[in-house]
Amino acid sequence: MLVQGTHYRTVWFEQNRIRFIQQNDLPHFFNILTLSTYEEAAHAIEHMLIRGAPAIGAMGGFGMALAILNAPNETWKEEVQTAAQRLRSTRPTAQNLFFGIERVLRAILQATNLQEAINRGITEAQNLADDEVNSSREIGRLGAELIQDGWNILTHCNAGWLACVDWGTALAPIYYAAQEGKKCFVYADETRPRGQGSKLTAWELGQAGIDHLVIADNAAGHFMSRGKIQMVITGADRIAANGDAANKIGTYTKAVLAQENNIPFYVAAPLSTVDFNCPSGAEIPIEERSQDEVHYTWGLNDDGNIVRVRTTPEFSQSANPAFDVTPARFITGIITEKGIVAPHQISQLKA
Ligand code: MRU
Repeated sequence: MLVQGTHYRTVWFEQNRIRFIQQNDLPHFFNILTLSTYEEAAHAIEHMLIRGAPAIGAMGGFGMALAILNAPNETWKEEVQTAAQRLRSTRPTAQNLFFGIERVLRAILQATNLQEAINRGITEAQNLADDEVNSSREIGRLGAELIQDGWNILTHCNAGWLACVDWGTALAPIYYAAQEGKKCFVYADETRPRGQGSKLTAWELGQAGIDHLVIADNAAGHFMSRGKIQMVITGADRIAANGDAANKIGTYTKAVLAQENNIPFYVAAPLSTVDFNCPSGAEIPIEERSQDEVHYTWGLNDDGNIVRVRTTPEFSQSANPAFDVTPARFITGIITEKGIVAPHQISQLKA
């Protein structure tokens, strides 16, 4: 997608290095970082310098490419297994991360010598990133058919191109519909505690010229009940075989509100997000993140510096589950690159 007229992917491989857009600095500063080792890639995922399910999947794949590029000749097979384990340990919920790491690891281990392993690793990581772009574009094309001219659409968290390699998942149909000349308006949930909606979705929509409002997380029911929202689209971090979907904390609440208000609730996700071995949402591991994300907030002060301020009493503890599970019964349909299906039909799309 375009940033001030220049096309970017969220993460890419260039001259044997990973380059990516540093998301913690947005929306105030646009910075691109360069990584040379798989450990740096693991750190970037863990600390959410890059985040969003398909984006960390691509980063995991490129991290594996760096692991084999830097591996010693005698022990490259052991080295890539160690790297895969380290990259898997970074975040537990998004299925795409595991999908990306395993896909590149498998390709590397088919090689009979180090040079062949390097070639295979880099090629597979590139193919993975390209496949994610193609899937997102197709989700956009199919999802756009659901959108009527003039609709207001609510989304939660950031499931736009920053969360993917390009295009996005939940935002892809909106970008595609806009390119087709449909006018859509987006209500972007702020998405406490980290503010992916207010910081990233709002920034992305602004770059694309899509009209939007940032709303407090607890305002969605109000707008739904007043007839202001015609459709909800969110992304997903992991979809279970029965169609239950884990996504950013607060998604479940929006799905229940949508059903109460007779508003269609769609989940948009590539098949790399589907965990066909996971029977239901109850088995999806939910990441618990630092209490500090609830206690503190980050923002730009009047001197132009990004600063952290505490918003809770010093004596209070907090709980910070990063995701929740929306049961399949609240989901109108899942928009994938292979078609739009009812949640209980998702397993039929297994390759
Ligand atoms: O914790 P994050 O910011 O990585 O969570 C991201 C989300 O929950 C997105 O909605 C999800 O990854 C879908 S992305 C296309």
